[in-house]
Amino acid sequence: MNLWIVVMGLVLYLVFIGGFSAKDSRSPNVVNIGAIFSFGTISGRVAKIAMNAAVEDVNSDPSVLGGRKLVLSTHDSNYSGFLGIIGGLQFMETDTVAIIGPQDSGMAHILSHLANELHVPMLSFTALDPSLSSLQYPYFVQTAPNDLFQVTAIADMISYFSYKEVVAIYSDDEQHRGTMIALGDKLAERRCRISYKAVLSPAGLANRSEITNELVKVSMMESRVIIVHAYAVIGRKVFDLARELKMTGRGYVWIATSWLSTVMESTPLFGEDAKSIQGVITFRPHTPDSKRKTAFLSRWDRISNGSIGLNAYGLYAYDTVWTIANAVKVFLDRGGNISFTNKPNLDGLGQGKLNLGALSMFDGGSQLLDNILRTNMTGLTGKVSFGPDKSVFRPAFDILNIVPKGYKQIGYWSNYSGLSVVPPEILYTRQRNRSSSSQLLDRVVWPGQTTVKPRGWVFPHNGRQLRIGVPDRVSFKAFVSKDETTNEIHGYCIDIFLAAINLLPYAVPHKFVLFGDGHKNPSYSELVRMITSNVFDAVVGDIAIVTDRTKIVDFTQPYIESGLVVVAPARKLNSSAWTFLRPFTPLMWAVTGENTTSTLGRMVLIIWLFVVLIITSSYTASLTSILTVQQLAPSIRGIDSLITSNDRIGFQVGSFAENYLSNELNIAKSRLVPLGSPEEYADALERGRVAAVVDERPYALPRDSPLATDMSTAILTLSENGELQKIHNKWLNTRACGQPSSEDSDQLQLKSFWGLFLLCGIACFFALLVYFSLMVRKFKRYFPYVSEPSTPSSSKSIRIKRFLSFVDEKEEESKNKLKRKRLEMLSRGSGEDHQSPNGSRRTNSGTTDQDRHNGNIYFC
Ligand SMILES: *[C@@H]1O[C@H](CO)[C@@H](O)[C@H](O)[C@H]1NC(C)=O
Ligand SMILES: *[C@@H]1O[C@H](CO)[C@@H](O)[C@H](O)[C@H]1NC(C)=O
Ligand SMILES: *[C@@H]1O[C@H](CO)[C@@H](O)[C@H](O)[C@H]1NC(C)=O
Ligand SMILES: *[C@@H]1O[C@H](CO)[C@@H](O)[C@H](O)[C@H]1NC(C)=O
Ligand SMILES: *[C@@H]1O[C@H](CO)[C@@H](O)[C@H](O)[C@H]1NC(C)=O
Ligand SMILES: *[C@@H]1O[C@H](CO)[C@@H](O)[C@H](O)[C@H]1NC(C)=O
Ligand SMILES: *[C@@H]1O[C@H](CO)[C@@H](O)[C@H](O)[C@H]1NC(C)=O
Ligand SMILES: *[C@@H]1O[C@H](CO)[C@@H](O)[C@H](O)[C@H]1NC(C)=O
Ligand SMILES: *[C@@H]1O[C@H](CO)[C@@H](O)[C@H](O)[C@H]1NC(C)=O
Ligand SMILES: *[C@@H]1O[C@H](CO)[C@@H](O)[C@H](O)[C@H]1NC(C)=O
Repeated sequence: MNLWIVVMGLVLYLVFIGGFSAKDSRSPNVVNIGAIFSFGTISGRVAKIAMNAAVEDVNSDPSVLGGRKLVLSTHDSNYSGFLGIIGGLQFMETDTVAIIGPQDSGMAHILSHLANELHVPMLSFTALDPSLSSLQYPYFVQTAPNDLFQVTAIADMISYFSYKEVVAIYSDDEQHRGTMIALGDKLAERRCRISYKAVLSPAGLANRSEITNELVKVSMMESRVIIVHAYAVIGRKVFDLARELKMTGRGYVWIATSWLSTVMESTPLFGEDAKSIQGVITFRPHTPDSKRKTAFLSRWDRISNGSIGLNAYGLYAYDTVWTIANAVKVFLDRGGNISFTNKPNLDGLGQGKLNLGALSMFDGGSQLLDNILRTNMTGLTGKVSFGPDKSVFRPAFDILNIVPKGYKQIGYWSNYSGLSVVPPEILYTRQRNRSSSSQLLDRVVWPGQTTVKPRGWVFPHNGRQLRIGVPDRVSFKAFVSKDETTNEIHGYCIDIFLAAINLLPYAVPHKFVLFGDGHKNPSYSELVRMITSNVFDAVVGDIAIVTDRTKIVDFTQPYIESGLVVVAPARKLNSSAWTFLRPFTPLMWAVTGENTTSTLGRMVLIIWLFVVLIITSSYTASLTSILTVQQLAPSIRGIDSLITSNDRIGFQVGSFAENYLSNELNIAKSRLVPLGSPEEYADALERGRVAAVVDERPYALPRDSPLATDMSTAILTLSENGELQKIHNKWLNTRACGQPSSEDSDQLQLKSFWGLFLLCGIACFFALLVYFSLMVRKFKRYFPYVSEPSTPSSSKSIRIKRFLSFVDEKEEESKNKLKRKRLEMLSRGSGEDHQSPNGSRRTNSGTTDQDRHNGNIYFC
């Protein structure tokens, strides 16, 4: 920070030329404080009114300063850092005990060196650059929540809405630059980042064409989450121009720091001006509601003549004056003298024409500073006190969403509990809870009047294609390989990727790039390195081998993110599932040898029942095993239980899983078993040589890629609608990829029952044959010789007709027999038991008996 020395030199030169003369304000009955602001700005105008009101209140209570008068001198820095510094020097010549301001951080950096030398505390509620709270500036105190808290709030909100990248638009000056650096740090802690910084010239210099140029660049970026941190004048220009460029509509997320809430409260925007900021989210320091605050709000209209609205920083301005007054009171109460001595180091310089001798040091400065930092009072902003790091008490922010009628509050952020819809003062009475499930905000109306959360990114409009690396493998060719004839890249993974990408609601231009020489498997680590070094945007290929013999234990989000899959042996339906069917077999033979007529029907029936029974039980057995396999299999429930166990773990040779397992998950190398092919997988799993195989997912996108979530969702959709199975069948169920054919499988299929159906068919055929031959025999007995001299063909058909009518008669006969029997039984049963309404009588036991007796007749 050599700048301040240069500026000091300039200032001293000016002092020499101008020859400031110190005003005589060293009256013992006066306590001087100074304020440096650009009083043309919103903050300056509001601060002036609020500070004057506070001075009035302090002076109206003689008990505060024991009859002394608090005098506030103001200096208008008029948007100029140079004038601000001169104002500071002027105050230091006029026995000022404390300075409120300066307004911006650039001036604060320079003046706080002076404050350090001359022991004059400086209190600012607008110069909130995080670096100003450093130990380098002991005499500089921020009386409103530092920007570090505001950027933490923004970062928490970005991560709450699960955005990964943001664009920052800010003025390149000390008021704004440091804050954006802090934002970058806070975002990085949450695995987000600022993907582009649109830097504008310092305030006053940024013209329309410059802002437009930057906005056009922003519009070409991938991220659609834009944070604006600038002075109100510039910020409003940014939004106006963004609207002209149609960048304030649907799909965009605009976040403005507290400058916008200040504008909204003090000089509400109407009409066209308001349109450009619809849906913007902004922040405001949180001040708890209180009677004093309400009273001050109603007093405000009077003291401001309605010229400007009160904003949160106005409340801090009022409290800052009181903080000084109370500290001075304690200082005086302890017998302190307000006295100044000339700065000894400057004595020599004072001999010259420079009027440096006028600069004096406040003797009680360190005492007063101490009193300020020990403040313990309740003001308009709630409790006022400072932490050991000079931070304000319980920093918190309101989160506002700009809507057509002004703004609505969607929640709070507090350093204690993060985002919530409950006011921080209530949260502080509860146990601290930073769990992600406790983070909550109300519904946001986004730009374009939609409540659907914007995706937050788009494919950049620069015509670039996603470059997708595809490993040119020797094994597992069904997953990805190059078609030797057409040179196209195809395979299971490619199909999944294409199907998934087609499900995305937006176009993803892409091209596949083969990687490797095709003679040996390319190293996966190398592929990953190529992603991190931006050679590829993604990698497709290399997949967990899901055969009939294996099963993916976990298909859940964390593993999708880490790109790993655990493959463990699946419990199979084996032949023991069939054993319980055997006891039924003798039943079939027990029914044979009975009365033939009934036996035939009964036999067929029983066989059918048997078939149904077997099919039902196998179905039940399959279902049960499907259900229990899921329950039983996981002695390995995921990668965590795998780590804690002592089981050996397989990995694919060349895969990054090896490094990941040993370096990241700290699994001993001795537990890792390299496996080369699907056959080795199956073999190792079957023999229990490994408990599981850890392999990669069919796609890998770089960490934090905005595509990752969408692709994962799309692949889950594919697996739900059966598309994945179809692709699986297409590529992996054919002999071509060396998988065991489906005969190997233990799944029950229609052909598993062929024996059963054969048996059934034979039984039916046999029964029919026996019945037919019986009939033919009877027929022959009734019509022994039918000899009519007609054509052989007609005689044949007549015989057949006669035979059929004979069969019919027999049927009729047996039916009549049955009827007769029944009537007999009914008449026998009459008179017993109750009578049914229409006269027919039945007894329960009678019916049962009859049914039991004639049961076979119903069936035949
Ligand atoms: C502020 O500076 C501008 C020029 O930059 C000047 O026109 C204006 O009069 C100044 N205002 C005050 C209050 O000094
Ligand atoms: C706007 O500012 C840029 C640089 O800050 C400058 O090059 C350009 O000439 C200015 N344009 C106008 C119209 O003032
Ligand atoms: C409000 O009006 C009074 C009387 O006209 C005047 O003394 C005071 O300075 C005005 N205040 C502001 C903030 O303009
Ligand atoms: C304050 O000044 C008075 C006399 O003016 C002196 O007696 C007293 O000791 C001084 N107090 C301190 C703390 O210097
Ligand atoms: C602050 O003041 C309140 C009473 O106004 C008192 O209860 C509390 O203990 C004080 N805190 C400190 C740190 O002195
Ligand atoms: C803010 O929270 C952090 C922990 O998250 C804590 O270390 C720090 O002291 C808090 N600061 C204030 C001012 O409450
Ligand atoms: C935190 O909040 C969540 C959701 O409100 C709740 O489920 C969880 O139990 C809380 N944790 C603690 C420690 O209070
Ligand atoms: C079939 O599974 C049972 C347990 O479900 C097991 O005890 C038996 O050894 C298995 N048989 C074969 C041949 O795998
Ligand atoms: C077969 O049973 C029926 C009644 O169920 C009986 O009328 C018939 O005589 C029996 N035939 C033989 C051969 O036992
Ligand atoms: C005889 O009674 C049965 C059962 O109560 C009933 O369903 C049937 O309709 C009645 N028939 C006549 C003719 O009333």
